[in-house]
Amino acid sequence: MRTPDIRRLFLDYFRERGHQLVPSSSLVPDDPTLLLTTAGMVQFKPYFLGESSPPKDRLVSLQKCVRTVDIDNIGTTDRHSTFFEMLGNFSFGDYGKAIAVPWAYEFLTDVLGLAPERLWATVYREDDEAVELWRRVGIPIERIQRLGVAENYWDTGGPGPCGPCSEIFYDRGPAYGREGGPAVDTDRYLEVWNLVFMRYLRGEGGDENTIPFVGDLPRPCLESGLGLERVAMVLQGVDTIHDIDVMAPVMARLGQLTGADVRAEGQRRPARIVVDHVRAAAFLLADGVLPSNEGRGYVLRRLLRRAIRHGQALGVDHPFLHDLAGTVVDQLGQVWPELTERRGLVEQAMGHEEDGFGRTLAQGARLLHTAIRRTREEAVRRSSTSTTPAQPVLSARPVLSGRTAFELHDTFGFPVDLTTEIAAEAGLVVDTDRFEALMDDQRRRAQRARGEARTQGDDRGRGQAYRTILDRTGATRFVGHDRLTEEGSIIGLVRDGTEVPAALEGEHVEVVLDRTPFYAESGGQVGDAGVIRTPDGSELRVVDTGLGAGGDLHVHRAEVVRGELRVGQSVHAVVDDDRRSATARSHSATHVLHAVLRDTLGDHARQHGSLVAPGRLRFDVTHFAPIESDALVRIQDEVNQRLLSDPEVRIWQASRAEAQEAGAIALFGETYGEVVRVVDIGNFSRELCGGTHVGHGSQAGPVRLVGETSVGSGVRRIEALTGIDALRYSDHERVLVEQIAALLGVPRSGEILRRLQGRLDALARAEGELADVRQRERAKLAERLAGKGRDAGGRWIVAERLDDPGVRDGHDVKQGEEIRALVDGVLAYCPSGRPGGAVLGMVRDGKAQLVLGINSAMEQLTAPARDLLRPAGRTIGGGAGGVGRIAHAGGREVNRLDQALAQAAHHLATSTRT
Ligand code: ALA
Repeated sequence: MRTPDIRRLFLDYFRERGHQLVPSSSLVPDDPTLLLTTAGMVQFKPYFLGESSPPKDRLVSLQKCVRTVDIDNIGTTDRHSTFFEMLGNFSFGDYGKAIAVPWAYEFLTDVLGLAPERLWATVYREDDEAVELWRRVGIPIERIQRLGVAENYWDTGGPGPCGPCSEIFYDRGPAYGREGGPAVDTDRYLEVWNLVFMRYLRGEGGDENTIPFVGDLPRPCLESGLGLERVAMVLQGVDTIHDIDVMAPVMARLGQLTGADVRAEGQRRPARIVVDHVRAAAFLLADGVLPSNEGRGYVLRRLLRRAIRHGQALGVDHPFLHDLAGTVVDQLGQVWPELTERRGLVEQAMGHEEDGFGRTLAQGARLLHTAIRRTREEAVRRSSTSTTPAQPVLSARPVLSGRTAFELHDTFGFPVDLTTEIAAEAGLVVDTDRFEALMDDQRRRAQRARGEARTQGDDRGRGQAYRTILDRTGATRFVGHDRLTEEGSIIGLVRDGTEVPAALEGEHVEVVLDRTPFYAESGGQVGDAGVIRTPDGSELRVVDTGLGAGGDLHVHRAEVVRGELRVGQSVHAVVDDDRRSATARSHSATHVLHAVLRDTLGDHARQHGSLVAPGRLRFDVTHFAPIESDALVRIQDEVNQRLLSDPEVRIWQASRAEAQEAGAIALFGETYGEVVRVVDIGNFSRELCGGTHVGHGSQAGPVRLVGETSVGSGVRRIEALTGIDALRYSDHERVLVEQIAALLGVPRSGEILRRLQGRLDALARAEGELADVRQRERAKLAERLAGKGRDAGGRWIVAERLDDPGVRDGHDVKQGEEIRALVDGVLAYCPSGRPGGAVLGMVRDGKAQLVLGINSAMEQLTAPARDLLRPAGRTIGGGAGGVGRIAHAGGREVNRLDQALAQAAHHLATSTRT
């Protein structure tokens, strides 16, 4: 009996018994607690919970389902599949098990014609009623087994309805396993139908054997699931689910595509996995899921990448998934029209994923196997040298590092589950805690990077837009290491943080291409600029290129200068050659500078950050003292000498270990994948680097170091110009020198120094003379002020305004410093041995100023100078500062300066030590 007949018979059987047919829901459930639709009951959860009412109390459905909990069993057992069709009858408060059990039995035996003596049943261990019902319909008591929660309780794994269940099994015979019923062997005894007696509500938590009950359902319900593929296995007399009518042609097609014998030992499992996963992936894609690194997109990506990997194990060396998916569509497109409708999308998405992952898979797999081998060797070495007894068996499995898993994920797109699986096949466990920690770090870094790049509130929208583009079409392919022009097509346009279908003349837009020669800003090197043209004459001016969607997309920031751009259009992308060349010069110069710094300053001098831009570079180096100018000159000379010796710039790929072994320099804070790009310059520089470079040293042109500063402890920043910009800088300097010569009135620049020295000496002499004059004037002013000294109970006190024309007498007191010197000068006139104090005030630039000083005799008697001045300071609207015998104050209350002076004088006269 073929699957179309089974479907029809089931649906008819229940329709005849008053059930309404409800179409299958999408594989993407309308339920935040579930990633995917895993059973027929999922779409009916609100009915069980009483949140809404079913159209009828009796429903029947054919539901498409995806379950990945059994993914490891796929291809190993006969009966598991990721995607399956589930037939089910449902009763919402209507009939219960007393009716469902006889119907199920009748359908299997009478309608489908299964041999009654082959049927077994399991029931929840306390369900006497179910035992009795099965017995009554004809299953003898010895073929009814009572099992526990793990086997005979059902729920979706999260909060929601649950209840005891009862399953029907078909005995495939001794050739398939041991005697003893489903309690003993679920391969021989094949579960075909599950009847669930929904009664309770469960909460979060629990495990296989415990259920956190939180209440009863509003009314007891019944739901069931008959596995279409499994019952077809039985009815079609085939050994595995992969051999049934709808699967066998897909398997056969795989055989044709690969040339592999898909039934042979060793090939069987990978073949089954490929067919199973392609089928599930086709259904997920048809329901709108797209490959991504999260959620259901991750489930899909994992399935596809697993299929690609097992396809390669079968010897496929070309994209084949889309072809296989075509066969799936041919088989099931009638029943599931969405497959036919979205055939193009299904095939393209698969092709794309295969294109991306297929390329890196072999490299990644090689690295993974190297890492596995090393981990095992290390484990063996450790256990043979260990003096402690062998570890317990459970913890004895060697641990593959979380970093390796992370790098495989990051660089090669290996879903961690795939890595875990391959490691497990080799007897290793993966340090998933470390992997998760590294993923978290990366997410945080990405968040920070996004935060730093934030310009407007639309940043979040932009990130989202990029992710949507990435999910839809996959990563941009960068071809710009080899060429500066490329044909590509527009896979996304983003304006003001939102995806748009088109951009018009004059608009600024971010353009994402499927392939691009434009280098995107990374590793310190700025992004490329250039033009993008369409065949119909539209033109975009690209001003910069950056990375989007965590680095997977090259985002061209551009302006439409002519015509209109649309998503899907093919384009001709041309990088600005001059700018790129100028940047490449700076990048090669940076490597040479790095090498020379290490040779000159020592091995501690390492790159701490850099900016590589057209014609200029900035290089931060770990060094703990300023680099003296003569050292800088030597460094610059050496850099230029090495460049002029025209060393070849060679670029090669290697595993990280190989590159490290070869002495390549890796940078601080950079994370590298397992495969790295190495840039050699001559025989003196070898760095890991993803940037663009010149072919030979001399092309980098001259390098001029133009600045050396500190940027934090232990890090010096060197700024330099390269190529034509270095020459222009020299020209600029020459012009400057000529202008100085003209200013100094010397005919030749060679005389500048002598003439300038002469001028500077003359200036110094003049300044000295001026200082003497001021000093003499201050002494006279002090004498005049001292003449105003008065006696206050034995204390000698001067309190005067300096801006009083009569007092100042032409001497322009400018600075607080000068007033302080003046106060000292005044106090020098205090009659010997007497306590003396002076306070001087003035208004200057709209501000009142006070300076108060006391001599040492006064200091014995009074509070410190600052305390003496504080009340007066407050009067002019400020505080008072200063230490020892001198204090100053300033404030905006210029009109209260006299009052403040009087106040200070009063305190000088009366203050005592407390
Ligand atoms: N919901 C039940 C199951 O999936 C029928 O087994």
